[in-house]
Amino acid sequence: MAELIKVATVDQLRPGQMFYAEVDGLPVALANVAGTIYAFSDSCRHAGGPLSSGVLRDEVVTCPWHGWAYNVRTGKSVIPPVGLRIPIYTVDVVGTDVFVEIDWPDEPAPC
Ligand code: FES
Repeated sequence: MAELIKVATVDQLRPGQMFYAEVDGLPVALANVAGTIYAFSDSCRHAGGPLSSGVLRDEVVTCPWHGWAYNVRTGKSVIPPVGLRIPIYTVDVVGTDVFVEIDWPDEPAPC
């Protein structure tokens, strides 16, 4: 079930900046690319490096641990192994509040 969750305010994310938000234990990174805010998993597919602590250049974030890089808009890896993806999340800005849509898995049916 999808849920919109407030994770930041726009003043916390100037163009070219990233921001970390934990949403019920889910590590989420936000990136402001020329005024558009994108949300994606903060956890690198290689070894879990914190992407929000990496380097953002245009739409590409580079992991601070070993240099894997992803497009923050699509979630696709931009260096080998190409084809890997990190989860991306829909962002909604309402006034000065930044919301992220998280699609939680359904609760398992009771036994
Ligand atoms: S953990 Fe990100 S490149 Fe290794």
